[in-house]
Amino acid sequence: MTQTSETYLTGITTTGTPHLGNYVGAIRPAIAGSQNPGHSAFYFLADLHALIKCQDPDMVRQSSREIAATWLALGLNTDNVVFYRQSDVPEIPQLTWLLTCVAAKGLLNRAHAYKDAVQKNIGDGEDPDYGVTMGLFSYPVLMAADILMFNATKVPVGRDQIQHIEMARDMAQRFNYLYGEHFTLPEAVVDDNVAVLQGLDGRKMSKSYGNTIPLFLEEKQLKKHINKIKTNLLEPGEPKDADTSTVFQIWRAFATPEQTAEMRREFDSGIAWGEAKKRLFELLNEQLREARDNYQRLLAEPGYVDEELRKGADKARAFSVPFLDRLKAATGISPLQP
Ligand code: TRP
Repeated sequence: MTQTSETYLTGITTTGTPHLGNYVGAIRPAIAGSQNPGHSAFYFLADLHALIKCQDPDMVRQSSREIAATWLALGLNTDNVVFYRQSDVPEIPQLTWLLTCVAAKGLLNRAHAYKDAVQKNIGDGEDPDYGVTMGLFSYPVLMAADILMFNATKVPVGRDQIQHIEMARDMAQRFNYLYGEHFTLPEAVVDDNVAVLQGLDGRKMSKSYGNTIPLFLEEKQLKKHINKIKTNLLEPGEPKDADTSTVFQIWRAFATPEQTAEMRREFDSGIAWGEAKKRLFELLNEQLREARDNYQRLLAEPGYVDEELRKGADKARAFSVPFLDRLKAATGISPLQP
């Protein structure tokens, strides 16, 4: 891998099936970046993070398989990027401990996920920490370890994750202050040009709202899901507002600028909802067909996916093993005979 001055890194929590929103917002740009040999990037399955939200082993395993197969099926170039499972890099949980010992509890008290859980408990008249695990509470420390383990400089994330990157910077600074300049301070990258897709009900497409269109549905199912996208009651022939339509929004995320302009004209001149949805199905089906076939093949013979992840873990550990040794030595944990 060619080392450039920027190192990109991002994690995907393995608690669900990739959907169109994940694809447009995170997967597609990452895969495009992976085609560039000068690009230094780490992409990983955050399966240790998954245990915080999901304690169903089958679901964690299945989600890991599906996410790994999705990225590979879409053509992630693993010669140029490091693609691995968090749990295959045992240096990450070890670094988590080193960071836990410099992370202020008061800082973690302010994490949104934890605060939301407490607020909800108070609202429900429960003990403030009811159902809150230490995993949820220290989530930002594990995430800081993910990032700092590879001295990533740029971390592409959604807006809701910016606070976690700020916390990682905080822990890095504290560690550097105590033990010397080991960590580079990471920055969040939030791309406002990347579409945040709406889901079936018009809210943000998200597994927590149950309004997603999974990325690799077979044709019939894809058609069915698209037909479920909420529209208004305007009849064929009545002009429709493209800018407030989920159908148009998803169209725009997949179409060329010319196709988008053409669809806007169709909306203005009153295309029927059924027709607009039919065209959206055709566009998506056409673009996803080849990758969907690859995906089905990879799921049917997971040996290839396992092998790719093993290679990825080897590459990651070529970096993390010596770096962790150095960090431990800095804290006073090293062979006793100097
Ligand atoms: N917390 C991130 C999310 O829910 C996933 C994640 C885990 C991550 N570790 C990371 C993202 C490190 C960026 C960097 O989306």
